[in-house]
Amino acid sequence: MKGHRGQALTRGVSLFALAVVCSILPGSPANSASATAKPAGKCVSPERPATAHDPSTLTSAAAAAAERGFPDRRAAQPASRHQSASFIIKVYWNVVYADSTLDGGNIPDQTIDKQIEVLNQAFQSTNVAFHLASLDRVQNASWFNEAAPNSQSATDMKRKLRRGGAGDLNIYSVGLNNGMLGFGTYPDNYRTHPINDGVLISPRTLPGGTAPGHNEGKSLVHEVGHWVGLYNTFQGGCSAPGDYVDDTPPEAYPSWGCPAERDSCPSGGLDPIHNYMDNSEDRCRNQFTQGQATRLSQQLRQYRHL
Ligand SMILES: *[C@@H]1O[C@H](CO)[C@@H](O)[C@H](O)[C@H]1NC(C)=O
Repeated sequence: MKGHRGQALTRGVSLFALAVVCSILPGSPANSASATAKPAGKCVSPERPATAHDPSTLTSAAAAAAERGFPDRRAAQPASRHQSASFIIKVYWNVVYADSTLDGGNIPDQTIDKQIEVLNQAFQSTNVAFHLASLDRVQNASWFNEAAPNSQSATDMKRKLRRGGAGDLNIYSVGLNNGMLGFGTYPDNYRTHPINDGVLISPRTLPGGTAPGHNEGKSLVHEVGHWVGLYNTFQGGCSAPGDYVDDTPPEAYPSWGCPAERDSCPSGGLDPIHNYMDNSEDRCRNQFTQGQATRLSQQLRQYRHL
């Protein structure tokens, strides 16, 4: 985890764990975002994917730095305001495709409608709703094939396509051929990197897609979770303050599959493997906690001015 580069921009990345790169996507090249830190080598046990390869997990110092400006304002907010908070977020979806095939990124409208439904169901308990404001289709094979966190292609693409302001969600469905499921930026990055703000998502993760175990649309829920200000539940491992949410038990490393009753830390209770911000398979993830709902509403107010 230590020493990976481009932290500010890659904090929201979610990767296929190596186990999946090995077992499910044998033809897939090693993921490029984390390859700089350590090249994909051998397969690891699905029970324990290597967190070292997941750049969305911050060092404690980086997380503390990111939190520095946040707790003060949180304390200054009247409780009644965030308890009654409800948000409607505009979604600008950019379908970037290489050719007319599904594998080439040409996703049908119905799939996107279904995905927005999954997103809305997941965030219902947090009082956040998403409204598809536009659906744009752009054919560009280089963007589809090369867009990745911090890539020049992604920067070019976002510069041309991004719409709206801090409170508007731009989604780019792109190939992510490096074994990645998706990538979501954090709210506090908007101020310094407004063009980079948004979510990259692999079409294979959308409802009915081809990513094994990850094709019910929960990957987008997870990435949007980052976009509204939530860390992975395994952020910080067993050490406080972990993911900066009190009611998500600490977790030593990401879940994989659906490891019921897993308990990877000495205290705090069973691992939150059903939480959207863990890495379990889609069938296994169906929860945000009250603490996450509170945090995201505070993040949306402070950084996205909603
Ligand atoms: C496609 O992407 C390339 C590389 O960023 C860019 O030069 C080109 O203008 C793009 N084409 C369109 C139609 O946007």
